[in-house]
Amino acid sequence: MSQATDKFRYHRDGAVAIITIANPPVNALGLAVRQGLWQAIDRFEADDAEIALIVGDGALFLGGADITEFGKPPVEPFLPDVCTHIENASKPVVAAVHGPALGGGCEIALGAHYRLAVTGARFGFPEVNLGLIPGAGGTQRMPRLTGVRPALEIMCSGAPLTAEKALEIGLIDRIAEGDPREAGLSYALDLLKQNAPVRRTGALPNPAHDAEAFAAARATWEKKARGQVAPLKAIDAVEAACTMSFDDGIREERRLFLDLMETPQRAGMIHAFFNDRKVSKLPELKDVTPRPMAHVGVIGGGTMGAGIATACLLSGLTVTLIERDDAAAEKARQTITGNLDAAVKRGKLKDTAAPLSRLSTATDYAALSGADLAIEAVFEDMAVKQEVFAKLDTVMKPGAILATNTSYLDINAIAQTTSRPADVIGLHFFSPAHVMKLLEVVVADQTARDVTATAFALAKTLQKTAVKAGVCDGFIGNRILSVYRGAADRMILDGATPWEIDDAIRAFGLPMGPFEMGDLAGLDIGYMTRKRKAATRDPRDIVPTWADEMVDLGWLGQKSGQGYYTYEGRKGTPNMAVMPLIEAARAGRPQQSFTKQDIQRRYMAAMVNEAAKVVDEGIAARPLDVDVTLLYGYGFPRWRGGPMLWADMTGLPALLDDIRIWAETDPYFWQPAPLLERLVAEGRNFADLNEGTPK
Ligand code: COA
Repeated sequence: MSQATDKFRYHRDGAVAIITIANPPVNALGLAVRQGLWQAIDRFEADDAEIALIVGDGALFLGGADITEFGKPPVEPFLPDVCTHIENASKPVVAAVHGPALGGGCEIALGAHYRLAVTGARFGFPEVNLGLIPGAGGTQRMPRLTGVRPALEIMCSGAPLTAEKALEIGLIDRIAEGDPREAGLSYALDLLKQNAPVRRTGALPNPAHDAEAFAAARATWEKKARGQVAPLKAIDAVEAACTMSFDDGIREERRLFLDLMETPQRAGMIHAFFNDRKVSKLPELKDVTPRPMAHVGVIGGGTMGAGIATACLLSGLTVTLIERDDAAAEKARQTITGNLDAAVKRGKLKDTAAPLSRLSTATDYAALSGADLAIEAVFEDMAVKQEVFAKLDTVMKPGAILATNTSYLDINAIAQTTSRPADVIGLHFFSPAHVMKLLEVVVADQTARDVTATAFALAKTLQKTAVKAGVCDGFIGNRILSVYRGAADRMILDGATPWEIDDAIRAFGLPMGPFEMGDLAGLDIGYMTRKRKAATRDPRDIVPTWADEMVDLGWLGQKSGQGYYTYEGRKGTPNMAVMPLIEAARAGRPQQSFTKQDIQRRYMAAMVNEAAKVVDEGIAARPLDVDVTLLYGYGFPRWRGGPMLWADMTGLPALLDDIRIWAETDPYFWQPAPLLERLVAEGRNFADLNEGTPK
């Protein structure tokens, strides 16, 4: 009495037809599953089963539509029709959910007549994270069950609900403990006993139109979603549930969904989704076992060291922090305690007692003798770092990893001061280290593969995204940053104002422009970098003299109340006193005006051109590693996928043409990347270089 394909099973348990979806790893609703479900419902209608139960095999119910099919021509049966087919069944259908029921998975559950969840189940519509809205009836069925407010919240935020919350708002009917199949079977038998009728969500009356809720949602998401279209379309679709018949609402939802499917935002966010997973899949790390990791030493308790220690403590690791003296150690402990208190306030942590119990501070490096890893976060100076590494070399146990958090120094030179260069690696955290998601894993010439694998495993423990980088000044991110910052400075010399540039970059989708960012970070940081590079600077390069003068005047940005903006608290207004300094620097140069698009194009071209060099030199393994770096460390909008995808979508030939035109007046800065030239000559894209990346 059983029918099976490799994607689903149909079998009978007495009066109950059990339909099991088995499409590892996440039971995505690809074509074979949709066909299987359709046929299973037909079979249920045809046989003498009295009730059907839909369950998912493995770790979860259903992970949603098959994202790999997006962007390709859809093939029947379409998911909305499958949901309606389930709903139209003439005998009751129950869904028993365990683990996540996401997107299309949630919509299948809504197509069923009764819904049960086992503890730990989660219900969500993450489509907005892919630049989409629910497209299989979710926007029409959910508000009919729960009213519009919960539907707006879950569909605009993409954040899932717990089973308990789903029960509270009426999305599901029952919560049970244990195995979903057993719990579902017992619920189905209860329903049979009660003679429970078929109960179609689509036949429920329209939800009440809550004008206030729609206005509030639009105001919130216009602001929060910053340039993304999908959350606002989700609101439109939920509103259609209030104003249209069910069938018209379904058609309207489909129309909005298919429109979004054609947008570059959808392409950008799906690119980002898969990159998140590909970035840690490096062929050289396949089958390499990471070293054990439980006890981390952090050297230096300044902002960065304390942030790294906080990140480790938040993830359950034991931390020993080394400082120069007791007073500095105490100050570091206070910073960490403050970070943990803030995590409690943000709801990321219940209380600080457990993490603080795993923290110890010391002034003697001998306290690190049992540590699995030491991360050095002391002053950015080669001699200071080399001294730290020499000490670490004497105290750390064999097999321990010695890491530096340097943001630009030569890690090969640091490794050479130890007797174990194979155990040395760069772990470049971004400030604040307990908040920012990016970790650049800088692999030096002699770094052992299992050390790199351990760094990736550590990132996972810390819930960070690790990107492998090679050694050079600035690694992937800061090296590219210094070039697009250079493009911004050149535009200032050629006639743009800092505020025009900030506006244009914000309009492109970054949270801040480069000059606001400079004010936030402190203008002395760029100043010190310029001083550091002064000795090796090419005479053809330009120096933003006004920026040095600002620091000389004590204008350090937010911390001094004045920089490119003057500040009342955090709110800045353009500081016009900068203009005379800029005008002096412009003297004698031809001036032009820049539109927003001109600014965006130059800024992006500089970013992409340098990124192409970074890929060509092997500093980044693939273009996707650049995309992930910019997304997680530099505020690049996720809905654009990353600069390399932006370049592919914009068209590499036109970008190269522009670079060549700008090179006519500034040949030093605008040297076309050889990789860009090769790709254009071969008619290829950056994405072609990501191919072959293990899935
Ligand atoms: N369609 C196709 N492939 C999917 C997928 C989907 N909906 N969801 C996940 N995958 C793939 C991943 O790409 C990954 O592939 P890989 O092993 O080749 O890299 C694999 O399934 C496992 O996914 P992963 O995210 O690593 O597993 P997890 O257990 O950490 O998380 C989910 C599982 C379902 C929570 C998570 O994958 C997820 O959020 N998926 C997207 C859900 C979604 O957006 N659905 C709505 C679609 S409209």
